[in-house]
Amino acid sequence: MKINQNYLDLKESYLFSLVAKKVREYKEQHPEREIIRLGIGDVTLPLVPVVVEAMQRAVLEMGVRETFRGYGEEQGYAFLRQAVCGYYAQKGVQLSDSEVFISDGAKSDLGNILDIFSTDNTVLIPDPVYPVYVDTNIMAGRKIIYVNGTAENGFLPLPDETIKPDIIYLCSPNNPTGAVYNSAQLESWVAYALEHEAVILFDSAYEAFVQDQSLPTSIYQIPGAKECAIEFCSLSKTAGFTGVRCGYTVVPHELVRNQTAINKLWLRRQTTKFNGVSYIVQRGAEAVFSAEGLKQIRANIAYYLENARLIAETLKDLGFWVVGGENSPYIWLKCPDGMNSWQFFDYLLAKAGIVGTPGAGFGANGEGFFRLSAFGDRNDVLEALARLRSL
Ligand code: MLT
Repeated sequence: MKINQNYLDLKESYLFSLVAKKVREYKEQHPEREIIRLGIGDVTLPLVPVVVEAMQRAVLEMGVRETFRGYGEEQGYAFLRQAVCGYYAQKGVQLSDSEVFISDGAKSDLGNILDIFSTDNTVLIPDPVYPVYVDTNIMAGRKIIYVNGTAENGFLPLPDETIKPDIIYLCSPNNPTGAVYNSAQLESWVAYALEHEAVILFDSAYEAFVQDQSLPTSIYQIPGAKECAIEFCSLSKTAGFTGVRCGYTVVPHELVRNQTAINKLWLRRQTTKFNGVSYIVQRGAEAVFSAEGLKQIRANIAYYLENARLIAETLKDLGFWVVGGENSPYIWLKCPDGMNSWQFFDYLLAKAGIVGTPGAGFGANGEGFFRLSAFGDRNDVLEALARLRSL
């Protein structure tokens, strides 16, 4: 028996587990301290009423012989896949429901998709970025090349013609920096992927936070993207589903590599390894995409974006270098006084009882930076800002 040795190349803990462990240890030593959590992007507002009602109806159906359901389609119920297509149509993107795969969240599918790609592929990953992309490729032993996101390029790296990647990860709005690619920038990524016959794995988990109407919220708004991109999205941040679990992955029929339709491979993988998301959850997700659902979730998103505005404004007032928070729920700041990311993490926790996420956890270019999440309760955010001001 041999273990997968690649796992030994991973950092000992996943970023957010390490942060949680440090906070637990601090809390054990200082039980009296009230901690404000602006670290992991976990939502605090409850599910919106239309979602709750839809799930309640689904629970009742499951308790009646005539409407009870057993296994669903591995790809997701047609009613939800069609609702997702309807949502994309509002963005000017036409999809067929056989291109949509319902998942239990973007994180799972971003990792699982790698099953259908050879481990010989070279992977291009922006740095800093959501650590799941790096860790899942280390697990498979793939070669990773980084493109640098820096303050100079607004944390939006563009294609590097000296690199010939097979798989390209993009996250826009970006986690952790909140930066959003404009159409021209995404066009250059699509052209680059087509030129190298690469596949873009586009993470749009934060698309619902984009306020600037000129910015793309799906890679498929860019001509040619259906021939080179898979898009992953989640209702975690869009509709408060972090604990409910539901997302979707779009694999267009036009995406063909090695004379093989990628959609077919992914369907084969999913039908073998996945039994779908629960009926109750899928009915809740369907309600998100109704006119009333979209209205209700947008009110929650506006609440979080107001938190983001308050955080960014206060930090700027205090002389911090800050980006993000306008089209995203994350605020990305430079650590003060030359502190590195983990020093600032310890300092904020000890002096103000505030938890954030060290930028270094998102890649080498995140060192010296720090991420605050706007998903907190408003009173907690205001209390955190008052504590920051008094530091
Ligand atoms: C984050 O804080 O970056 C996210 O909540 C993590 C995730 O979505 O898995």
